Amino acid sequence: MFSRRVPPDLTSNRLAHELARRRDAGEPIIDLTLSNPTRAGFDYPPDLLAPLADRRALTYDPRPFGSVDARRAVARDYERQGLDVPPDRIVLTASTSDAYSMLFKLLANPGDEILVPRPSYPLFDHLTQLDAVAARPYDLEYHGAWTIDLASVERAFTDRTRALLLVCPNNPTGSFVKRHELDWLAARCAAREVAIVADEVFADYELEPGAARAAGRVSARRDVLSFALGGLSKSVGLPQVKLGWIAVAGPDQVVDAALARLELICDTYLSVSTPAQVAAAALLDRGTVVRAQIAARVGTNYRWLASKSAASSCTCRRAEGGWYGVVQVPTLEPEEDLVVRLLLKDGVLTHPGYFFDFPHESFLIVSLLTSEVAFCDGVGRILRHFDCNTGS
Ligand SMILES: Cc1ncc(COP(=O)(O)O)c(C=O)c1O
Repeated sequence: MFSRRVPPDLTSNRLAHELARRRDAGEPIIDLTLSNPTRAGFDYPPDLLAPLADRRALTYDPRPFGSVDARRAVARDYERQGLDVPPDRIVLTASTSDAYSMLFKLLANPGDEILVPRPSYPLFDHLTQLDAVAARPYDLEYHGAWTIDLASVERAFTDRTRALLLVCPNNPTGSFVKRHELDWLAARCAAREVAIVADEVFADYELEPGAARAAGRVSARRDVLSFALGGLSKSVGLPQVKLGWIAVAGPDQVVDAALARLELICDTYLSVSTPAQVAAAALLDRGTVVRAQIAARVGTNYRWLASKSAASSCTCRRAEGGWYGVVQVPTLEPEEDLVVRLLLKDGVLTHPGYFFDFPHESFLIVSLLTSEVAFCDGVGRILRHFDCNTGS
């Protein structure tokens, strides 16, 4: 009765089951998986969302790519980052997930392939399956810093490859795409008529000073059809407003052809709310107070994690940006058993590396968004867990 786009087995895993049991029993949990900024104790000005009540939103004037004013506001936000993106190359979406779905519809036929980084954002499995395309991994490798294994990209290309996804900085490795890597990828993709889709939702959050400015950004490319994805959800910590965008770049003729087809797709759904568009400029402006708090928090937590793990049996992998910390831990048991044990014994919830498709065990992923007190407590418990069990 149901399509194969949705998984046949929807039963929850052991971790989800134990988590639900613990929550129902009212037992305390230190949640190091938190990714919702509105639940992370930041000081949101109470009237932050007042621009959503602007009376201009009483009139419905649907535009496939969104209102000119909102697209200009997004262009100004790129300017803030030192990037020149014309408003007529900006397409508004309700979220990044929406943007992926529209781009898969634009670029791929059912069964075509999309190259995705590994390890990376777990939602790619569902996002690709729901649009009937196949995700094919290419690898990131770590040798004191994360880089793209370019040979694995070469191996992953087939005649059915339609797009290559980048996440910059990547979730959870925190690695930005380097300029020389992007040049190499752009040349390969252009030669094969494969588009590049770069998810830049975390681009405002650098953990190493200067990492964002030094990164390769696709919105400046003229050699390959490229799409940069961004949104209010991370850039100003407002996921509930549901406003994202795509910035299109590449050779003029191909960009025009892509925009003409995207227009039809967007016009079919018209999914961006009018109040969100009317408020876009004001929210991008007012939201800087939230961005500053998030940036300060993730930076403090990352530095604490790096310094504490240096004196333990665990290792914090170097991150250049983003909201996550990757901790390599001694392999005492399978990752799934480990995360369940940490929850039951130490009351700490973490993501196992396999969620993000790490090539081997054992890794724990911790959210740097967690309040500083909870973060220190939770990470402290994890480090003690291993130091007790390894006799360090
Ligand atoms: C890499 C990446 N892209 C996109 C998103 C979600 O963005 P949105 O809320 O705009 O769908 C997330 C959320 O964690 C993410 O990690």
